[in-house]
Amino acid sequence: MTDKFTIEQIKTAFDKSFEGEPDEWDDLRNDFIAELTTPQRTPQVGEAYMHKGDATLYLGDCLDILPSLGKVDAVVTDPPYGIGFGYTGKYVDDGGEKYHELMLSLKQYPLALLQYPEQLIDLCINVFGQPDECLAWVYNSNLPRQFRLWALFGLTADFSCFKQPSKNPECNKVKRLLVNSYDWWEQPQVKNTSIEKSDHPCQIPVSCVERVLKLIGIQSIVDPFMGSGTTGVACANLGRKFIGIEIEPKYFDIACERITAAYAQGRLFA
Ligand SMILES: C[S@@+](CC[C@H](N)C(=O)[O-])C[C@H]1O[C@@H](n2cnc3c(N)ncnc32)[C@H](O)[C@@H]1O
Repeated sequence: MTDKFTIEQIKTAFDKSFEGEPDEWDDLRNDFIAELTTPQRTPQVGEAYMHKGDATLYLGDCLDILPSLGKVDAVVTDPPYGIGFGYTGKYVDDGGEKYHELMLSLKQYPLALLQYPEQLIDLCINVFGQPDECLAWVYNSNLPRQFRLWALFGLTADFSCFKQPSKNPECNKVKRLLVNSYDWWEQPQVKNTSIEKSDHPCQIPVSCVERVLKLIGIQSIVDPFMGSGTTGVACANLGRKFIGIEIEPKYFDIACERITAAYAQGRLFA
């Protein structure tokens, strides 16, 4: 079909056929157009993007895409772990220098950064200085370290939006960071048996990101290390605008699917 007509021509024809129809049909029309414009095969890096609801997703390197986005209200992200960690058998974040470059690219934005492991915390302090506030996501695991810190730079958290603004100022890690305020909450990790588990090795829980989004209250979010799209799902659930960037086609596809499903579900229960 698209061999004979351009997508623009099909959209125009389709729009005409909806003229005079009730407003409720808009969603149907938008879904049809989204289907039409979503690539049907796994795209190459830099080639694809997808719009769904209030989300725009890019397949590519955030170092290339971030500068083209213009003003960004806030970055909320869980950057690649451990320096030199191979996600799909190849090294995406291939050393301290690259990592430093990635962190520098975020320096200009109000930022909520999930910090893990230790090296990343030290590296972040070198790049960003001390965080303004810290949130600790606590979970059970077999490892001695059972929490990860969300560090806020240029953002403030409204702790009053939760009934339990638990502070733990005696925590050594927090003391070391000398932050202004601190909150923690318990939340299980995504396990292989979790309903939300996708094929991404480092997926974090949607409700963990939702908590951060509620605390910072910003309406428009960018995640430059989108992975399986968890931040995008949280944004869809909370009605926030979202831009996501992911370098691995396999994870980009997972993110597209999860965010599409989140919007579809939102409409079902609306
Ligand atoms: C820790 S994971 C994010 C996981 C995510 N929070 C989730 O719940 O699925 C970091 C992601 O960043 C991606 N990544 C690494 N370097 C990147 C770059 N330069 N640009 C965009 N994405 C990158 C990796 O492929 C990986 O999927």
